[in-house]
Amino acid sequence: MALVTIPDEDKRLADCNAIATYLAGCGIDYEQWTPAHPVTADASAEEILRAYSKEIDQLKARGGYVTSDVIDVGPETAGLDEMLAKFNREHWHDEDEVRFIISGHGLFHIHPKTGPVVAIEVETGDLIRVPRGTWHWFNLCADRRIRAIRLFQDVAGWTPHYTDSGADENFQPLCFGVSHLPYQATTAL
Ligand SMILES: [Fe+2]
Repeated sequence: MALVTIPDEDKRLADCNAIATYLAGCGIDYEQWTPAHPVTADASAEEILRAYSKEIDQLKARGGYVTSDVIDVGPETAGLDEMLAKFNREHWHDEDEVRFIISGHGLFHIHPKTGPVVAIEVETGDLIRVPRGTWHWFNLCADRRIRAIRLFQDVAGWTPHYTDSGADENFQPLCFGVSHLPYQATTAL
């Protein structure tokens, strides 16, 4: 389950309903999809998309998403640091950023137009939707690994527009809830 931190208020949320409610107030959709579908750790992207086809179709209907894929990055990924450097500075997109986490971890920072910056650690079973235009940035956690289903309204639109506000420099990319236990493919969430 996700872990939400509001550094400026020294506040942390670890309850699913509390997280969903707080993030909704920031315009961010958060859900847990439980139980997880039984996909193996080495499942192909096609197998993952097939296992979650019903949920993906529901999201497409809700958000007007037209395509989906699976992103899979880890310490062994060539050019990982260059890839991360594109997204760890405050930016926004012309379309929603939708991620359902299959394995690994990630850290989103959301910078609402009003209110404090929110850090959201995501892990297996978490769905997050960052609406178009939302100022945010992204880091990996200590495991430097994430596998996630992505949905797109228009693949061409998913490029970062940088704010150059410098806000991202004021927050440490720290993940507090990272488990280093091995991935359990069929563990119910
Ligand atoms: Fe982004």
